[in-house]
Amino acid sequence: MRAHSLMLISTLVGALAGCRGQESKVPPIHLILNMDTQEKGKAYREDTSDVFADGRVMRAPVPGTVAIGQLGESDRLEAGLEDDGQVTLKFPDEVKVGGALPATLAARGQLRYNIYCTPCHGSDLDGKGVMTQTGYDSNPRLIIPPPSFHSTRLKNMPVGQIYVAIKNGVNGGNMPSYAAQIPLMDRWAIIAYVRQQQKAKDATVEPEGGKIMVVAAADVASVDHGSQLYEAKGCAACHTLDGNRLVGPSFKGLFGKMENTTEGETMVDMAYLHESIREPAAKIVMGYPPAMPKLPLTDIEVDSLAMFIESQK
Ligand code: HEC
Ligand code: HEC
Repeated sequence: MRAHSLMLISTLVGALAGCRGQESKVPPIHLILNMDTQEKGKAYREDTSDVFADGRVMRAPVPGTVAIGQLGESDRLEAGLEDDGQVTLKFPDEVKVGGALPATLAARGQLRYNIYCTPCHGSDLDGKGVMTQTGYDSNPRLIIPPPSFHSTRLKNMPVGQIYVAIKNGVNGGNMPSYAAQIPLMDRWAIIAYVRQQQKAKDATVEPEGGKIMVVAAADVASVDHGSQLYEAKGCAACHTLDGNRLVGPSFKGLFGKMENTTEGETMVDMAYLHESIREPAAKIVMGYPPAMPKLPLTDIEVDSLAMFIESQK
């Protein structure tokens, strides 16, 4: 009796061990030979027919294959850029119908904006989304506030730059990229909606594009040149001239004052202004986030900006 059951167990163990799912080149025993055991290739199986030299049944796509809808034909459409690498001022032709933006585009954009942009930029596009409110610990949830779309800078911002913001994010991830969530056409739809809303509040807004604030290159630095750069380079988004605090300290009365920084007390003189603009991370003003971007500026531009700040009494 005992010997019998031992034998039975060892037979069972042996049988189970024999079929643990290993690959076998021998077809399973079929009583009725149907088309399961015909000569054919199956993905992930070895090619036994010698048709393919590398022995793989599943073939890789031919180099250069592009999936439908993935062909990056147009820089303006896909990257928001012109051939010279500048952000585009125009909506790409691909989003237009008969040369104009269809009304359905902004309507679609509104739906997408409400999903993806309102939490930070606000349903009124004023930069006052719920994420900008203080949290339960009474700290702001976003240290750098999102800008209002009704600010001068964003009303003038080229559509390509808004596109780049959605696709790539802003300022090293302060605003993350939404490329994964928002497909190409929807990005342009959102921009059409944004421009429509900006235009509704300010008739001078150019609904089809935007303008690059060009500051003519200057041979000598001047306060006036600095004042134009202050707007064009976006300093105004973070620094006021009237003493109010935005993301960074106001420029009002800044020159000549003693500033408390992470490197100790420092006198705000020309050298300090130059350093603050060129190397924003060198000394961080106490009580402010290290949020100032390092902008590409020429020597004359830095001089002009410093002179402009000096002039803000
Ligand atoms: C999680 C919060 C958040 C969301 C969501 C968000 N943004 Fe932003 N956005 C920001 C912040 C913060 C900034 C400012 C970043 C900075 O200057 O450091 C910003 C800046 C921008 C700018 C200015 C870009 C520049 O070059 O200065 C544009 C344009 C913009 N956002 C568009 C959008 C659009 C369109 C959406 C929706 C698709 C969106 N944002 C969603 C937080 C957000
Ligand atoms: C995204 C917001 C932002 C932008 C844009 C920005 N800054 Fe700032 N800036 C800050 C913050 C925040 C500080 C304070 C923290 C620090 O010292 O880095 C600061 C500090 C400074 C200081 C030192 C101020 C002090 O009180 O000691 C100067 C000068 C300055 N910025 C100049 C500029 C100029 C000029 C531009 C435009 C070319 C500019 N910033 C653009 C955010 C910004």
